Amino acid sequence: MSGSRHHRPHLKRPVWIIVLVSFFIIFLISVYIYPSRSFAACYIFSPRGCTMFEQLPTTPSRELTDEETIAQVVFKELLKTPPVHSKSPKIAFMFLTPGNLPFERLWDKFFHGHEDRFSVYVHASSEKPVHVSRYFVGRDIHSEKVAWGKISMLDAEKRLLAHALVDPDNHQFVLLSDSCVPLHNFDYVYNYLMYTNVSYIDCFEDPGPHGSGRYSEHMLPEVEKKDFRKGSQWFSLKRQHAIIIMADSLYYTKFKLYCKPNMDGRNCYADEHYLPTLFYMIDPGGIANWSVTHVDWSEGKWHPKAYRAQDVTFDLLKKIASIDESFHITSDQKKKVTIQPCLWNGMKRPCYLFGRKFYPETLDRLLFLFSNYTTV
Ligand SMILES: *[C@@H]1O[C@H](CO)[C@@H](O)[C@H](O)[C@H]1NC(C)=O
Ligand SMILES: *[C@@H]1O[C@H](CO)[C@@H](O)[C@H](O)[C@H]1NC(C)=O
Ligand SMILES: *[C@@H]1O[C@H](CO)[C@@H](O)[C@H](O)[C@H]1NC(C)=O
Repeated sequence: MSGSRHHRPHLKRPVWIIVLVSFFIIFLISVYIYPSRSFAACYIFSPRGCTMFEQLPTTPSRELTDEETIAQVVFKELLKTPPVHSKSPKIAFMFLTPGNLPFERLWDKFFHGHEDRFSVYVHASSEKPVHVSRYFVGRDIHSEKVAWGKISMLDAEKRLLAHALVDPDNHQFVLLSDSCVPLHNFDYVYNYLMYTNVSYIDCFEDPGPHGSGRYSEHMLPEVEKKDFRKGSQWFSLKRQHAIIIMADSLYYTKFKLYCKPNMDGRNCYADEHYLPTLFYMIDPGGIANWSVTHVDWSEGKWHPKAYRAQDVTFDLLKKIASIDESFHITSDQKKKVTIQPCLWNGMKRPCYLFGRKFYPETLDRLLFLFSNYTTV
């Protein structure tokens, strides 16, 4: 085809043999001296195939304790189990409340017509609620007192998970409070949570006093400061992760003992640190790093903004429901802001399915606006 090839100058035979042999010798010497750096080397020197990449960096920096070794093997097995398939997969809505739920009538509207695709659990820590919606009647679980910022908060969350896990059809487990309201219609929420393979656990690194400043070295060796994370307590968990929380006693105990109010003269709140830290350590790729429940901290006070009746407009609800970037700010002097797109199966989508905090007086406005603001 190409005539020029025939005119290529030919080396005399002994010269090209010498060149080839010397290249081969140089190659052999180099793979002998740097065996781990040469990709070709393992194919030549390892008769059973190339395994060096698997062997490389797994040496732990310290010896694990017995409990850690046990925890790691259990978590690894649980993370490997494929999701169970059920004929009618459901979402568990778990309400953490002191007593009555002021938005039951709104939730009733939200749930109506979707009876076989959800289940409701109510943990009422102070007084037995009077239910006005058929979906809430008979759904109270055994409950105990909950003190704000104490481990009893986490215990209540675990109690809700334990009850909700009994139903094998429950695939996602959403934690909600008495001041939470839905921002989208049921189908939207169902599809968002069901067709995803992550848990929505808020998780970020805050080097400031309200983040890593709360860390106690008593948590060593299992929990190191570099792994300590913060996040809102309002989660949505996939079943696998809910089971891991049931199985964990090692990390739970560390937080129970050493992340509490007035620990080493500082206040640590286990419900803001246990889940973000645990899942950052064991399955960072399996969590979204934001919460599907919107809270407005922009006023920079101790408690988030709570909406009054006059605040509740179509525009406010639409505005919250269409936010598609998550926002985190550190509590140190730098006040470093991190803004990230909310990616749902790799596509940019609204971040939030629920909102808080709404005063009970907003109920009528919300009922009036519900069908409008939840129409996508
Ligand atoms: C979730 O699914 C996406 C694609 O649908 C995939 O890229 C990602 O690795 C999966 N994540 C996990 C934790 O399985
Ligand atoms: C969440 O953040 C961790 C790092 O903290 C990262 O490894 C992980 O990929 C993030 N998750 C998603 C779904 O982006
Ligand atoms: C709801 O939306 C419809 C159509 O967009 C509009 O005509 C109606 O006034 C809205 N109702 C409220 C309460 O905003």
